[in-house]
Amino acid sequence: MYSIQASFVSSSDSYKSCPNNTLPEFAFIGRSNVGKSSLINALTGNRKLAKTSGKPGKTQLINHFNINDKWYLVDLPGYGYATTSKVNRNKFQKMIKGYIQHRKNLMCVFVLIDIRHPIQFNDKEFLKWIGENLIPFGIIFTKTDKLSKNKAEENISVYKKELLKDWESLPETFSCSSKTKIGIKSIIAFINAINE
Ligand code: GTP
Ligand code: MG
Repeated sequence: MYSIQASFVSSSDSYKSCPNNTLPEFAFIGRSNVGKSSLINALTGNRKLAKTSGKPGKTQLINHFNINDKWYLVDLPGYGYATTSKVNRNKFQKMIKGYIQHRKNLMCVFVLIDIRHPIQFNDKEFLKWIGENLIPFGIIFTKTDKLSKNKAEENISVYKKELLKDWESLPETFSCSSKTKIGIKSIIAFINAINE
């Protein structure tokens, strides 16, 4: 068992106004509605910590959460959702990319992928950008509760094959459900191993 004390620290609209960078941090990124905020709540066992919504575009700032006074979890806005304006999309892209490129204590970015969907153009583009910028990252397939175990495994294997067209090797991958909490412990274990 692990014990987690989580508290909200701040919401920032730029890496420049993020809290001090003395603690290691781990950020969650992905398309809007993929389940970033829900995953932070599942990881911390606090359903009300990060704000979630059925409507895409809920998280609009860089949100820092302090964990056990030892590390930060960071909830980011989603990239690319259809209902926002181009101006807004560009603003979020700039905020997210600036944060990822400049945040020195960022240990790993977890890119979240909805397990139900085939590979999407903006996920491919984002992963390519992460690779070009040499950012340490992992992939988390979300919402596994929405598929049978067989279908989930099949989708992950198709997705990995698709990625291997662009990548020589794959990063660490996880699958989880914030609803049933399956897969949550292995993400925490991975973070703990990096922190040790
Ligand atoms: P933005 O902040 O808009 O970028 O979205 P987000 O990626 O933070 O997604 P959020 O956590 O707000 O979740 C979006 C919707 O998906 C909500 O209705 C959640 O309840 C639902 N959801 C998230 N994770 C899961 C999951 O593991 N299983 C199921 N069934 N639903 C989930
Ligand atoms: Mg969110």
